[in-house]
Amino acid sequence: MARIFNFSAGPAVLPLPVLEQARSEMLDFQGSGMSIMEMSHRGKTYDAVIKGAEAGLRRLMNISGEYSVLFLPGGASQQFAMIPLNLLRPGGSADYVNTGSWSGKAIKEAKIVGKVNVVWDGKDENYLRAPEAAELSFSPDASYVHICSNETIGGIRFREYPRTPAPLVADMSSDIMSRAIDVDGFGLIYAGAQKNLGPSGLAVVILRKEQAERVPDTVNLFFRYATHMKEPSLYNTPNTWAVYILKLIAEWTEREGGLPAMQKRNEEKAALLYRELDSDAFWKPCAAKKSRSIMNVTWRLGGEELETRFVKEAREAGMDGLKGHRSVGGIRASIYNAFPVEGVEALVEFMKEFKRKNG
Ligand SMILES: Cc1ncc(COP(=O)(O)O)c(C=O)c1O
Repeated sequence: MARIFNFSAGPAVLPLPVLEQARSEMLDFQGSGMSIMEMSHRGKTYDAVIKGAEAGLRRLMNISGEYSVLFLPGGASQQFAMIPLNLLRPGGSADYVNTGSWSGKAIKEAKIVGKVNVVWDGKDENYLRAPEAAELSFSPDASYVHICSNETIGGIRFREYPRTPAPLVADMSSDIMSRAIDVDGFGLIYAGAQKNLGPSGLAVVILRKEQAERVPDTVNLFFRYATHMKEPSLYNTPNTWAVYILKLIAEWTEREGGLPAMQKRNEEKAALLYRELDSDAFWKPCAAKKSRSIMNVTWRLGGEELETRFVKEAREAGMDGLKGHRSVGGIRASIYNAFPVEGVEALVEFMKEFKRKNG
């Protein structure tokens, strides 16, 4: 078996012990004589899995009883639509901070539902930083304020979250569980699972329960949070496999020391990489220093030909997934929770050698 260092932005590397456990339980899940994918989502065995997944997230993120934790289909993109459908008061408006591609998609969906105030837009600076608190002012009548905590494509993040008069809603797809946060500061947190939580196609939604009460009657039942809260994440057949893997990942994260340990490790990994990027003008790191992501590290080289060679030679050296997003080009190293420090060390070594040969 040859596992490479996988820098993919998502779906992304999963913890090896999780994959091994899933393999060992594949054909006969806990003596049931079938795999987890082959059994009813309403049976006792699966019930323990989905409840265990929720309990794991609640422990890790310290989520209080004021919040529901939902596992929903459609990834984070479906949430771009569900959030305004549920939370945008008829005749009201919502504030959105535009820090890049993912915020942009969320804004597009919200505009279909109602009035959107883009309270800050990083467009003129090519979305290479998040705003400072002093740059933000919010609308008095906004139903909620939406941010993307970590823009996966640009490689920027909010180091601190804004204080907002209306409930704060955050797309945490690419940095959920990468550090300890205060969930009580948010009205709703959502994430596509395919970075720090498991397989794609699954969204985790953590919402203050009262948020679900405002939904207009015109919204289809399926798209109401209240529907999925009533029959906890079992209104329709959930992605049973993805929820199972998420449970294993939550257990792995706890065994590794929880979010404080993840944060420490993630900051160390990112620091290793940024140190090399700051060491020589050969590298051109993209994100403004204050906004640098510790999950997605982005940089350019002196020309596309050199970047293509970098990606190709890295792949030959056992490192894949380093090509930047097709919309921006360049290089991107995604170093989520499950990405090992040895992989970052190997990349830095490779970079030093590449610089020596091409600098
Ligand atoms: C920050 C962010 N938001 C939203 C999405 C969209 O997620 P999905 O493909 O699960 O809908 C992504 C995808 O990678 C993302 O990185």
